[in-house]
Amino acid sequence: MTDESTRDALIAAARDAASRAYAPYSGFHVGAALLLKNGDVVTGANVENASYGLTLCAETAAIAKIANEGWIGELAEVAIVGGRPDGDALLGGDAVHPCGRCRQILNEAAERSKTDILVHCGSGDGMTVTSYRLSELLPAAFGPKDLGLID
Ligand code: THU
Repeated sequence: MTDESTRDALIAAARDAASRAYAPYSGFHVGAALLLKNGDVVTGANVENASYGLTLCAETAAIAKIANEGWIGELAEVAIVGGRPDGDALLGGDAVHPCGRCRQILNEAAERSKTDILVHCGSGDGMTVTSYRLSELLPAAFGPKDLGLID
């Protein structure tokens, strides 16, 4: 796949994942798609809770899935999208960027994967996408390398 078609496929997977969000409180559906080094794609969506602060973001849910499979060191690239639902799809708007906590959680997998991963940030309709390196979104990160776990 070309870089552009990888980005487009990940945005599409993130939009599909967002349709499985559990977000009855905010009404804001977020989907994340993680590309692994072997080409597999693992997705997640936000999971809200009546105790609002317990909400799990889409990126965190997706990283938990790969970590639990033993693939935390296999991350290659990420896409996230978010918006308000319109039937099974999402309305457009601005691109959604990962929250601060999710940047840190993505960094754990990125350092373990020895990759400054691309993070594609998309609007709900996928029409607006801005791509960053994780190091741009979380400069001078603290991570496993600081604790001597990575060369
Ligand atoms: N949300 C995510 O899933 N990821 C982010 O990076 C930002 C915010 C979710 C949390 C909550 O369910 C909803 O978006 C509104 O904040």
